[in-house]
Amino acid sequence: MENKRHLNTLMVHDKDQYQDQFGAVVPPTYQNSLFTFSSWEAIEQAFEDKINNSIYTRGKNPTVALVEQKIATLAGGDKSKLFASGMAAVSAGMLHFLSAGDHIITLKNIYGPSISLINDFLIPKMNVEVSYVSGNDIDEIIAAIKPNTRLIYLESPSSVIFSLQNLALITAVAKKYDIATAIDNTWATPLFQKPLALGIDLEIHSCSKYLGGHSDIVSGVLIGCKELIDAIHIREYELLGAKMAPAEASLLLRSLRTLDLRMDRHQQSALKIAEFLNAHPQIALVNYPGLANFPQAELAQQQMSGFSGLMSFRLKTNDLVKIKSFFNHLELFQIGVSWGGHESLIYAPAISYLKEQSPEQFKRMAISLGDMRISVGLENVEDLLLDLSQALKLIE
Ligand SMILES: Cc1ncc(COP(=O)(O)O)c(C=O)c1O
Repeated sequence: MENKRHLNTLMVHDKDQYQDQFGAVVPPTYQNSLFTFSSWEAIEQAFEDKINNSIYTRGKNPTVALVEQKIATLAGGDKSKLFASGMAAVSAGMLHFLSAGDHIITLKNIYGPSISLINDFLIPKMNVEVSYVSGNDIDEIIAAIKPNTRLIYLESPSSVIFSLQNLALITAVAKKYDIATAIDNTWATPLFQKPLALGIDLEIHSCSKYLGGHSDIVSGVLIGCKELIDAIHIREYELLGAKMAPAEASLLLRSLRTLDLRMDRHQQSALKIAEFLNAHPQIALVNYPGLANFPQAELAQQQMSGFSGLMSFRLKTNDLVKIKSFFNHLELFQIGVSWGGHESLIYAPAISYLKEQSPEQFKRMAISLGDMRISVGLENVEDLLLDLSQALKLIE
């Protein structure tokens, strides 16, 4: 019966938890570092099945475990493991598959710190080799495969321009060559894209975005089959120690109850805003996979069942005074770097890149001064449209 229930019902109900916990409708937070045992034999027995017993919170904690089970259900995986941040999950995932001298294939436009993890850590410290590909050309991926390729690491839609990779096609190639696949699925959420069903081995999320949804936690998760998640649990989770905090797991459990509702609103508002920007005379282009004229719209409709609220667009003007005027005069879109929360946000990639790169490098990166990234929050969409409209008037 339970298996037939819809995901949004399963995210709301914790009825199986009530009985042993005084009928508490919100499962209690086990805010403890260790668990005690009645005897030598009892703790010895617990150690025999370390993965499934709560002994010490760096390994397993009941509050964290409850949320892990919910997220695994949501993604259609056997198991999941929650981490202290999205980057803790990304690094545990990469380190699980890669040893010294191995080769990884990934995309040019994955999340910046994931690229830095490869370039500034895996390459200099472990002699890992990397090939960066565009992600939308299967022949380019096949051509990049080497005898020491161990991992194809994807992000679909990717950061900045939200380009897609054909997941079924790539996993078929990876299986043929016996290469593991991982995907950062944060943008789409486990509701709107099911990479494990398309053959991906490891699904990764920053729960700091939509899964958390309220901009009050930083966390990450890895989802996959039992053997893979148990192996990561024993090695990268317990030994690197970037464990999920029980109190934050409790906040995440709260957030999962409304994920479906929130994603509906993010999606509806984002589409209206993308269409408005797309038709606006001051806007040169909009990158949003839900738009009918998105270059990979067909693949987007085929591979995803919905679209979230993060997009980018380019102002036509290159005049920094006008660009700053637009940026600084928004009233509802607050200035900040993250996304996926209840609040609408804006950020301009040029702010970081202008500081870090020379003017020549900046030009080569194909980033324009007028590139903007917005996260469409849960406010009334008419208010958000008016806010964008009034700020765009300033650059006419
Ligand atoms: C696509 C993507 N993946 C991973 C991360 C890292 O997550 P966290 O900030 O929770 O470490 C981010 C953060 O912005 C992100 O945008």
